[in-house]
Amino acid sequence: MKPLNIGLVGHGFMGRTHSNAYVSVNNFFDLDYRPVLKAVCGRDAAQTKAFADKWGYESIESDWRVLVKRPDIDAIDICTPNNLHKEIAIAAAEAGKMVLCEKPLSMNTAEGEQMCQAVEKAGVANTVWYNYRRVPAVSLAKQLIDEGRLGRIFHYRAQFLQDWTISADLPQGGTALWRLDSAAAGSGVTGDLLAHCIDTALWLNGSINSVSAMTETFIKERKHNLTGKVEKVGIDDACAFLCRFENGALGLFESTRYARGHKALYTFEINGEHASIRWDLHDLHRLEYFNHKDDSLIRGWRSIHVTDGDMPYMKHWWVPGLQIGYEHTFIHQVADFLAGIAASKPVSPTFRESLETQRVCDAVLASGKDQTWHRV
Ligand SMILES: NC(=O)c1ccc[n+]([C@@H]2O[C@H](COP(=O)([O-])OP(=O)(O)OC[C@H]3O[C@@H](n4cnc5c(N)ncnc54)[C@H](O)[C@@H]3O)[C@@H](O)[C@H]2O)c1
Repeated sequence: MKPLNIGLVGHGFMGRTHSNAYVSVNNFFDLDYRPVLKAVCGRDAAQTKAFADKWGYESIESDWRVLVKRPDIDAIDICTPNNLHKEIAIAAAEAGKMVLCEKPLSMNTAEGEQMCQAVEKAGVANTVWYNYRRVPAVSLAKQLIDEGRLGRIFHYRAQFLQDWTISADLPQGGTALWRLDSAAAGSGVTGDLLAHCIDTALWLNGSINSVSAMTETFIKERKHNLTGKVEKVGIDDACAFLCRFENGALGLFESTRYARGHKALYTFEINGEHASIRWDLHDLHRLEYFNHKDDSLIRGWRSIHVTDGDMPYMKHWWVPGLQIGYEHTFIHQVADFLAGIAASKPVSPTFRESLETQRVCDAVLASGKDQTWHRV
């Protein structure tokens, strides 16, 4: 196997999931490439060293600018807050490195366009970690749709609900709470949560043409961790939007961090002419399927346990009936990335494909502000 030297930037939540994927992937997938944990970059040397020791990184850096220029690094993996994605990705591309970037691609479409141009100009492999595509049940949904089993699609409905920002005492900004700070996150639930729903929807159901949204910031001011002052909150706490897809389907999307009782309830349901499917992240190995062509006496929603060897990705894992989880979606993405570079083929979603999600997010946020329909 050829080595692929990884330089990871950021060692928080996603730094862990990606590191786990790099160390596990070759144990389950037969690939031409093997990721090598060459270096991890973080601002706190002691924390970065502890992370490097835990996961097996060979070295540490405290400045990503140094990391991207290192000749022994092949691919830069960006696991930082959103406001750093653009600068790091462009510098990495200009240094000739492959770039794997966490979602959302960028703070907005304009930034994302610059990132696309940088990787395209450099001709380097690139991908964005919209990992839910690689939940086997979601990949199976894609297969069923592509096989025409749903027929014409009429409705696409998605939700991503959480409840962790309800307390008005929660500050904004800084290490753990950058998601509440618009300067670091770009937007609130739209870029953080709906971006996942939009990416999946574009993949499963094609382009979105127009949107009409409402957004709300329930807690208007919060103490800022970096300044110590009470400051205006610039993110959307909740967002709901209607949309029209290019294929004629109607879409309905909702996301909030104020749905008491919900931690990460990402669900979607698609209603077609012949069949419907629905999926729930809390039960991620199942795909529910209703087929109108079934014998009417036994027709009903069936719950498919997506664990058989002929189902997406599952032949690489255990035996039929035994399920996998969240972390495996990242392993699948690394496996596909490594297979893609071996075959010199782009790995979906590329930066360019993910820019479409950014365009929808921008249109949603603009519509939330002026309360009119926006074309994407
Ligand atoms: N694909 C997914 O499902 C998913 C889930 C969570 C987060 N994300 C995305 O991943 C990215 C990171 O989110 P997270 O949850 O891991 O955040 P996190 O706060 O857990 O980790 C962020 C890391 O970036 C580091 N960092 C910040 N500034 C830096 C700098 N200048 N140089 C080097 N390191 C720096 C922090 O120290 C920290 O280690 C975000 O873009 C987020 O939207 C994606």
